[in-house]
Amino acid sequence: MHRLAIFASGTGSNAKKIIEYFKDNAHIEVALVVSNKKDAGVLPMAQSHDVPQLVINRSQFYDTQSILDELKTQQIDFIILAGFLWLIPNYLVNAYGGRMVNIHPALLPKYGGKGMYGMHVHRAVKAAGDKESGMTIHWVNQQYDEGATIFQARCEINEQDTAEDIAKKVLQLEHKHFAPVVEKILLN
Ligand code: GRF
Repeated sequence: MHRLAIFASGTGSNAKKIIEYFKDNAHIEVALVVSNKKDAGVLPMAQSHDVPQLVINRSQFYDTQSILDELKTQQIDFIILAGFLWLIPNYLVNAYGGRMVNIHPALLPKYGGKGMYGMHVHRAVKAAGDKESGMTIHWVNQQYDEGATIFQARCEINEQDTAEDIAKKVLQLEHKHFAPVVEKILLN
């Protein structure tokens, strides 16, 4: 049995899709949701699906390694970052090397890096006049958004699309592909 932890800072619409996707899976289970924000929407969502939740603060995450003990206790063997806005410290990258993925709402390497998250990304894509955008699932390393790409999906951008329209198209791609891509990785 694979036991997944999802790290999320916000609404958790991707986390929700992933939890639902693996609900009746005999080999893969979402066993923990971790958030750095105690009022993040992802927490009540996880609660409503009976997935245990953990809220961490900055000093727990960066100064101690207590999260590692928690992940070990919960026998977590794979981490999914789904809208988690803190940089992952080295000790965690090292402990979960090759077992931690992130999703980014653009076609990396374009529009990645510090400060490039949420609507900042889609506004930058719009401002550049790009004809397409999309999403990237990638391995996590010590730099924001720089690990090797695992999967990308694309969508067209029409001239009349606003940044919000682009955000919607990209989120649809994320919801469609994230869980199946994780499943493929785990079952390979
Ligand atoms: C997604 O667009 C993801 O690519 C980015 O953060 C957003 C999270 O959205 N990393 P949600 O919380 O899953 O709705």
